[in-house]
Amino acid sequence: MSNTLSERLAAAPVVPLIGENDAVRAVKTAEALGAGGLSVIEVVMRSDDAQRGMEAILAETEGLIVGAGTVLTVDQAKSVVASGAEFIVSPGLVDDIARYCLDEGIPFFPGTMTAGEVQRAYALGLREVKFFPASLAGGVPMLKAFSSVFREMRFMPTGGVSTSNLSEFLVLPSVLACGGSWLTPKDAVAVGDYSKITNLAEEAVAIARSVR
Ligand code: 3PG
Repeated sequence: MSNTLSERLAAAPVVPLIGENDAVRAVKTAEALGAGGLSVIEVVMRSDDAQRGMEAILAETEGLIVGAGTVLTVDQAKSVVASGAEFIVSPGLVDDIARYCLDEGIPFFPGTMTAGEVQRAYALGLREVKFFPASLAGGVPMLKAFSSVFREMRFMPTGGVSTSNLSEFLVLPSVLACGGSWLTPKDAVAVGDYSKITNLAEEAVAIARSVR
């Protein structure tokens, strides 16, 4: 993982997801998150327009580290990196994406939810993984069990994380950061209530500071 990314996550260990199709709204959402203290942002590739939204954020904002999420193939990984993605997140572990990212020095967070998947990630040379879907994959007790055997691995729980359980995850030393969409509610984006997004980001930063 790059020094800058790891420093940013140490300062504010929360990665908001942007799933907005409209590029203008995606940029405003990213700016609102940055204003609230969250500067590492994952744009999920779940529509044909998502990559353009990520490109617009990269072109029109400053001070953010922007990655691509929901990357399913190595070709897609190459494409989002060509667009400027600074890290890649996948829902699962695909070896050729991992090898490509390791070769290129691009931080890669593949989803894992079993000991076998974490061990395969470790064997490939990864030391940071997503833990997905965190709430269904066993939550905090599962992460504690993983951490006792995978001493070098750090986890990014995502899926079911929110204001109500963020501190329970962040208190674990093996948790690098938590990811989630609760910071970018669709209804707030739809009506242009970007101050709500900034407030949610500030709340997440405050929770993180209270436990770290
Ligand atoms: C992901 O892509 O990581 C999840 O869909 C996010 O889950 P959440 O909506 O529960 O945060």
